[in-house]
Amino acid sequence: MNQNDRQPAETQDKNGPATGKVTLRIWRGDENGGEFKDYTLDAQEGEVVLDVVHRVQSEHAGDLSVRWNCKAGKCGSCSAEINGVPKLMCMTRMSDFSSGEPITITPMRTFPIIRDLVTDVSFNYEIAKKVPPFTPGPKEPDGTYRMAQRDIDRIQEFHKCIECFLCQNVCHVIRDHEENKANYAGPRFFVRFAALEMHPLNTNNSLGLLKEEMGIGYCNITKCCTEVCPEQIHITDNAIIPLKERVVTANYDPLAWLVTKIRRKTGRNTSST
Ligand code: SF4
Ligand code: SF4
Ligand code: FES
Repeated sequence: MNQNDRQPAETQDKNGPATGKVTLRIWRGDENGGEFKDYTLDAQEGEVVLDVVHRVQSEHAGDLSVRWNCKAGKCGSCSAEINGVPKLMCMTRMSDFSSGEPITITPMRTFPIIRDLVTDVSFNYEIAKKVPPFTPGPKEPDGTYRMAQRDIDRIQEFHKCIECFLCQNVCHVIRDHEENKANYAGPRFFVRFAALEMHPLNTNNSLGLLKEEMGIGYCNITKCCTEVCPEQIHITDNAIIPLKERVVTANYDPLAWLVTKIRRKTGRNTSST
């Protein structure tokens, strides 16, 4: 079985295995292939999927590889596909599933397998290196920086990103098209670019980079990324669409773009798209 055969049918119920047995059907393997293995354990009250994976590891399969850190939904390490749905294992309650049905856990499909549930997400770190740093303009004559509260509020949600890469995992531009990775940043990084582009003090212009190298034009705003974000960031509506609009304006209405840049440099930034 190769990596693209790791997908179970999407099923999900809300009845909850509070007592009795639960079965985890976990994909075991590496870059050379693998298979699903079933592990049946006693259900325990209040557990999340990651708890049960840990019990599988300690009681049945000491060599099971799984990545995690915080068990609090904040480190972004424990991303996986649970019954075919991309989720954080530490934030998915066992009570979300019906008794008796095996719960299938597979690694994220978009990234190469290292082993079992652990994938190689270094693609994302390579993209991160290409994002220009925050570069504030000159200070006010009194030596301070001033920002309108509405501009700060606008970018606040982008800073909630925990880099779980679930949005990258579901983005069809790269999920089924490995060849696109060379020319595409993906939703997590469009969020990062939006945080920089909309920051009232940042003077870096990334619109050319977004168009030419980061492939924002490939995104056809299907919103799949938004649907899986555990931080409920409005990736498509609040980051990608405004960025697309700015890219279009810079390319087809350069005068409007220039006015925006001058306003920013002179501290007269507004909340326009
Ligand atoms: S909205 Fe764009 S970035 Fe998000 S999943 Fe769809 S194509 Fe990918
Ligand atoms: S934007 Fe949301 S889904 Fe994407 S990496 Fe950040 S937290 Fe995860
Ligand atoms: S272990 Fe940190 S987000 Fe799940």
